Amino acid sequence: MNKEQLMEQARAVKHAAYAPYSKFPVGAAILLKDGTVITGVNVENVSFGATNCAERTAFFTAVARGYAKGDFQAIAVAGDTEDFLPPCSICRQVMAEFCYPDMPVYLTNNKQDILELKLRELLPYAFTDLDM
Ligand code: THU
Repeated sequence: MNKEQLMEQARAVKHAAYAPYSKFPVGAAILLKDGTVITGVNVENVSFGATNCAERTAFFTAVARGYAKGDFQAIAVAGDTEDFLPPCSICRQVMAEFCYPDMPVYLTNNKQDILELKLRELLPYAFTDLDM
């Protein structure tokens, strides 16, 4: 699966977002090393802080299905923004928990361009270890 195909899955799931407050639907698609794709959407709450982003929904689903650090190949994130939609900092921290720094993160915009970054570019000096 290439980055265009993974991004297509992120775009395709966006319609399922529960975003009545922000009206900002986001879809995410994680490619596992075994070829499985797991998608997620943002799920908002009237108590705004209880909102879960699309990326975390996808990661938590993957973990619930038994995947662990080392199993993650790439993630694509899709919104409807003019500029490339970057993952929030909480989601970057969740990525750092489960993914290696060289994992590709694909971002897109409403022109369907794809920007490929490495996790380490999104989150340098990540906090990953209590034994420092
Ligand atoms: N959101 C995501 O799901 N992923 C991102 O990368 C950025 C933000 C969601 C959270 C909230 O539901 C809405 O977008 C507006 O912040």
